[in-house]
Amino acid sequence: MNAFRNTLSRMLFPQWVLLGVGLVVGAVALLIGVSDNLPGIGLLYLALVCLAGAWLWNWRSPREYWMLLIISLAAFPIGAILHNLFDALGTKAGQIPVIGQLVGFLGAFFFLAAVVAAAPVGLAALIGGITASWKGLDRLTKLNRSYRRFIESSRIGKKVLLKLVNLVRQSASGANLQPLKFILSNTPEKNRRIFPSLSWAGYLKEWTGPAEGERPAAYIIILGDSELAKSFQYDAGIASQSITLGAAELGLGACLVGSINRERLREEFSIPERYQILLVIALGKPAEQVVLEDLGPGEDIEYWRDEKDRHHVPKRALEETILDL
Ligand SMILES: Cc1cc2nc3c(=O)[nH]c(=O)nc-3n(C[C@H](O)[C@H](O)[C@H](O)COP(=O)(O)O)c2cc1C
Repeated sequence: MNAFRNTLSRMLFPQWVLLGVGLVVGAVALLIGVSDNLPGIGLLYLALVCLAGAWLWNWRSPREYWMLLIISLAAFPIGAILHNLFDALGTKAGQIPVIGQLVGFLGAFFFLAAVVAAAPVGLAALIGGITASWKGLDRLTKLNRSYRRFIESSRIGKKVLLKLVNLVRQSASGANLQPLKFILSNTPEKNRRIFPSLSWAGYLKEWTGPAEGERPAAYIIILGDSELAKSFQYDAGIASQSITLGAAELGLGACLVGSINRERLREEFSIPERYQILLVIALGKPAEQVVLEDLGPGEDIEYWRDEKDRHHVPKRALEETILDL
């Protein structure tokens, strides 16, 4: 029953629903006609909003949505001016082979960009921007999945890493000892020195970790200063959650890595013995989709990937976590 529910929820993935609705509504609009036909035009715009929504579904960074909104707003006047310009040129150069066709094509392209595409794409970007800027903790904890494949070329600035560590500085610490220290890495050279010490996704036996080009763009290595405290696990947990939630808020993905070749990493950076290597947080712009699944009684907690390479993470039901004692 649960497997059926999971399959159904995958089939009804909102992105595919939007794509399907967009295509069906678009087809209906074309069937009833969009030329001087108000209902047809309305349906065409609705279809385009759905298609734009499906395209933007996996975007997470509010900044990218706002940029797209600005581009869409600018596309209307710029597209209209360029359309009129190429239309005027067409009346002069229309007879010249190739150039006449090119001018005609550009005129039509800018008309479509200004009149047909700009408004629905802008509306989808506005909805996406508002949703992505909404910082509810429920939404953030859902977004805060373990990502293991990234767009490696999408770099992360040092300022961003400092901002994330500052979240830890503002978080709780046992006896307020604040014993954690951090090594930051955001350059390909330094990243290359960290990656070989990490192990990825133990349950995915066939997968040896992210390939070149999909590796993290940055890392934060969390260390425990043994001169400041004896144990660090609670502080490291709080720190990790603060950093990964902060990353999710910025549209980034993260993965906590506890399976570390600590000797190798210590040697690589000549980390003094007084610092215990606790966790490495890998960061980057996600290049994979991670889906939460409800775990039925007796079902396996191991994460898995489907035929579309989406990563699925089963989570126990809320009732199962509460002891009614
Ligand atoms: C303390 C800790 C250590 C982890 N170590 C690793 C690791 O070494 N390699 C890895 O790929 N994932 C690691 N993870 C990520 C978990 O596998 C992941 O949290 C789990 O599969 C649930 O997925 P989710 O984070 O998307 O909910 C670690 C997570 C935690 C909390």
